[in-house]
Amino acid sequence: MSKILVLHGPNLNLLGAREPEHYGTTNLQEIDSALRERAQQDGIAIECRQTNSESELIGWIQQAVSEEVDFIIINPAAYTHTSVAIRDAFAATGIPFVEVHLSNVHRREDFRQFSYLSDLAIGTVTGLGADGYGFAYEYGLRRVLNAD
Ligand code: DQA
Repeated sequence: MSKILVLHGPNLNLLGAREPEHYGTTNLQEIDSALRERAQQDGIAIECRQTNSESELIGWIQQAVSEEVDFIIINPAAYTHTSVAIRDAFAATGIPFVEVHLSNVHRREDFRQFSYLSDLAIGTVTGLGADGYGFAYEYGLRRVLNAD
């Protein structure tokens, strides 16, 4: 069975209540449940995880190789703009991934304009709110099914 891993970075556990003008009102449980439901219908294994820890995220990206993950959807949150270590973890594992942001980071502060991950990602989904995860999933699904 093909496997998709969904990783959410720091402060995304607060979605729904956190700065709704940027991140909307859908909470993380709702985002993950919608993805799990779709994956069940599509016959795909999916695992969704959130952490506020950079080290834990790196561990999960590394482990994804032995867990035989085919595709990763990640919202690295603030680590997008700071973490060479998360970039290096993706470069080391080589697992294809899509970078998701709920807000349109390009319309925001200067420090959000740069991503350490985007040039390694297959693509990015930015500014489409919680729907962005669904679009990233749709792409991942097509990709893993075509690889079978
Ligand atoms: C975010 C954008 C980041 O700049 C920010 O630090 C986040 C969330 C987004 O989903 O729009 O925490 O990744």
